[in-house]
Amino acid sequence: MGERKKRIAVLISGRGSNMKALVEASRADDYPAEIVLVISNKPDAAGLEFARSRNITAVAIDAKAYQGRAAQENAIHQALVDHNIELICLAGFMRILTEDFVAKWPGKILNIHPSLLPKYPGLNTHQRALDAGDKKHGCTVHIVTGELDAGPIVAQAEVPVLPDDNAESLTARVLIEEHKLYPKALKMVAGE
Ligand code: GAR
Repeated sequence: MGERKKRIAVLISGRGSNMKALVEASRADDYPAEIVLVISNKPDAAGLEFARSRNITAVAIDAKAYQGRAAQENAIHQALVDHNIELICLAGFMRILTEDFVAKWPGKILNIHPSLLPKYPGLNTHQRALDAGDKKHGCTVHIVTGELDAGPIVAQAEVPVLPDDNAESLTARVLIEEHKLYPKALKMVAGE
């Protein structure tokens, strides 16, 4: 890896458990990235408090405070530029970024998605895997492109679907893997 850690922003909308996993992993001296900025589109996102407790700049950029989506995205873009961000990690960021925004950060945005893409882009992935009778499920880290949940895959982790699973139990099993997969995937991309 290079001598300097890459500067990472994590975008969240809520709990931020994947962001926490990235923050914890990035504490290692030999980890090639550091989380320097957390942005939430929801002012009450629990993850903002966690980030502040670790002395990470954490800001809410709420759609309600801006006239339209382009203005909100411009504010996000400006915050990223102001903090010299090199890579962006979407971690439970439940707002679809426009093609214009993505085009400003080509190959620089990662997302974690709770399914084995290309299966189940979009929402309710766990219930859809159960409804389909899948025997395995999991999570994917991919590069964000203009097409939803469709960019190049960086890494995936699988879990079994057990006979008595419901959406809650399956969600919990996948989340454990997400917390391992995202730090591993960011390490790969930031170390390139
Ligand atoms: C995670 O399971 C993540 O994969 C999912 O939201 C959850 C956020 O949890 N993301 C999506 O569904 C994106 N479409 P977290 O806030 O605790 O990281």
